[in-house]
Amino acid sequence: MLIKTRLGREVEVNEDYTVDQNWEHFTPEEHDRWDRLYARQNALLPGRACKEFMEGIEKLELSKSGIPNFDDLSDRLEKLTGWRVVAVPDLVPDEVFFDHLANRRFPAGNFIRSEEQLDYLQEPDVFHDVYGHVPLLANPVFADYMEAYGKGGQRAMGQGVLKNLARLYWYTVEFGLIKTDEGMRIYGAGILSSKSESIYCLEDESPNRIMFDLKRLMQTDYIIDDFQQTYWVINSFEELLESTYQDFGPLYDALIKEDKVYSVEEIAASDDVHHEGTQAYAKAGGRHAKQAS
Ligand SMILES: [Fe+2]
Repeated sequence: MLIKTRLGREVEVNEDYTVDQNWEHFTPEEHDRWDRLYARQNALLPGRACKEFMEGIEKLELSKSGIPNFDDLSDRLEKLTGWRVVAVPDLVPDEVFFDHLANRRFPAGNFIRSEEQLDYLQEPDVFHDVYGHVPLLANPVFADYMEAYGKGGQRAMGQGVLKNLARLYWYTVEFGLIKTDEGMRIYGAGILSSKSESIYCLEDESPNRIMFDLKRLMQTDYIIDDFQQTYWVINSFEELLESTYQDFGPLYDALIKEDKVYSVEEIAASDDVHHEGTQAYAKAGGRHAKQAS
């Protein structure tokens, strides 16, 4: 079917919004761009990314040069956790996204950022989706969490809580931090695919780092076009997965009844604060300060 994507492209897609990756369509320049992004992040992330992510890179042989062929990558991933990677033009509708996750398919954007967008782009491209997200899908606990998220999303459709669920995804899968014996580490794909945020989220005094609290996090706004002002910290992937193994009915009832939204930088009296941010970066104008750095 012919669709207009959320980013405004007209594309012929399958019923589930997937497309053939058509790996041959990537140019040598695009493969080279992947290699440079890959080399840059891989030099930066040891000691910053959680060990499960670095292990995933190795197990999936993501070091092979060029944009990965999704069929080959999926064959390696499927043997580990049953997940596969499927190509989509760009962002897909919520119900389609949930269906993919619930069935252990990770939808990845079938394009790579331009040279001008090397450091930052808002829409998820193949580098963000594959380098950022796929390594952790090789971890059995995180792989279960992602499936649980998809199934939770399907159950939540029509209940008026999708914005709350989107915040859960944002603050864990995209921008999550994890406390380990070796120190604070990154597991969120939005950070792992960004050079500047990989440094900022751990080393900058500006952002809050608050211990994971499911309901509180689902009531917190987030920033889509700049560094986060608050990061949420889990103690383990088991803790994250367990938080989804509950009846969400009472939680959803409370979210709807309270109708509360915390601002991006707010700290509540009940928060378990690991680091109270200065918010100096945001106060200095955010993106502007980022571009200067
Ligand atoms: Fe993402």
